[in-house]
Amino acid sequence: MPKDSVTLTDNRTGKTIELDLLSPTCGPMTIDIRSLYKQLGYFTYDPGFMATASCWSNITYLDGEKGILEYRGYPIEQLAESSTYLETCYLLLHGELPDQTQMDEFEYTIKHHTMLHEQLLRFYSGFRRDSHPMAIMVGVVAALSAFYHDDEDVHNPQDRINAAHRLIAKMPTIAAWSYRYAQGLPFVYPDNSLGFSENFLHMMFSTPAEKYSVDPLLAKALDVILILHADHEQNASTSTVRLAGSSQANPFAVLASGIASLWGPAHGGANEAVIKMLTEINESGKPLASFIDRAKDKSDRFRLMGFGHRVYKNFDPRAKIIREICHEMLANGQCQNLEHQKLLDTAMELERVALEDEYFISRNLYPNVDFYSGIIFLGMGIPLNMFTVLFAVGRTVGWVSQWNEMMGDKESKIGRPRQLYTGSASRDYEDIKP
Ligand code: ACO
Repeated sequence: MPKDSVTLTDNRTGKTIELDLLSPTCGPMTIDIRSLYKQLGYFTYDPGFMATASCWSNITYLDGEKGILEYRGYPIEQLAESSTYLETCYLLLHGELPDQTQMDEFEYTIKHHTMLHEQLLRFYSGFRRDSHPMAIMVGVVAALSAFYHDDEDVHNPQDRINAAHRLIAKMPTIAAWSYRYAQGLPFVYPDNSLGFSENFLHMMFSTPAEKYSVDPLLAKALDVILILHADHEQNASTSTVRLAGSSQANPFAVLASGIASLWGPAHGGANEAVIKMLTEINESGKPLASFIDRAKDKSDRFRLMGFGHRVYKNFDPRAKIIREICHEMLANGQCQNLEHQKLLDTAMELERVALEDEYFISRNLYPNVDFYSGIIFLGMGIPLNMFTVLFAVGRTVGWVSQWNEMMGDKESKIGRPRQLYTGSASRDYEDIKP
């Protein structure tokens, strides 16, 4: 059977070439342009990767038009309903859901890697108390590379899995401690009798002076949020991880690059930006409509944070799930703080107005996952600057799974994009001296 292909004719020379079409399991056919430069001497230009597949992947599938998100073929709705974050981690990392023995072993392994090397504690004191916890995350995760360097052979599958386990297990400890440090509170060590999300809340909020019991509803809500953030195919931070990892760099340093990329307000920093925006609206005393007008005004840099998505152009399936959690938590009285209630009221009003506005409708701008996650985190008592840190905790498994997949691919090459050079043509050096 002939291969599917596309024919490309160069109008300048009349030369015609055939390019293979690659078939994905789901999603659009993809033109294989690897031979384009060799055959025609041309590069392709696609800033922001609007129509370029940067790699193949078996991990996550999403369809932005239909609002579909699947991990290893399993719909996000089913995983959020029935799975746990740790089981989802196993699925993403290994490709299949675990049986009971595999799950028990995985849980045991993760629990027994949650501690940090005591020497790592000293890194925290090098930071200012008012450092953004994402800055601490970037620094401390990168510093792990100094602790696990010699036994990290990126070409050895078992070493890669060991690195993945360490990262999944240690990230909540590093994250909780970045908060504890900023507050001047003592570091709380992990408790192996607790589940993954319970343990994180324990390390965040317990003190040596008082007994702290984790609210099971909050732990469950956090677990679901972590599942929703676990992977999202080739987004900015994951692509950063793949590009950094493609040079065969140390995985902990590679993960730190993903955290840095996630921090930006156009990506994982949006959940923090949403709350800042809602607070600004409430404190301004101005009508909501004036902010909607500003978001539409191209001469104003203001955008509605938590609205829009590069890929989801109908609705974000994660936003649908998280919206329900948000309302459940409110109904259960977990967000009784008046300030939070006011922010939530503004958020709901903003959602209503924007969804009826022609500007947002015509551009398919819907609330994304970050629009609601910030409100839930506030209700949990998690400080504003920790929101993106929580995103990083959840996304760690996605980053390491994508990195592991790439490193296991024998054909994987160092990532090296081309460019369309628009600078000066060649010219001679002129000496500054007369
Ligand atoms: N508010 C107002 N207008 C918007 C918004 C917004 N939040 N988002 C997009 N638009 C407009 C753009 O101005 C553009 O209008 P135009 O066609 O008249 O020029 C149109 O919608 C298309 O937007 P683009 O910027 O081209 O879309 P892109 O895919 O590049 O950007 C992004 C997607 C970065 C998410 C953008 O929608 C945005 O900045 N949103 C706010 C930040 C945010 O919530 N980020 C979280 C992303 S989800 C995540 O990381 C989990």
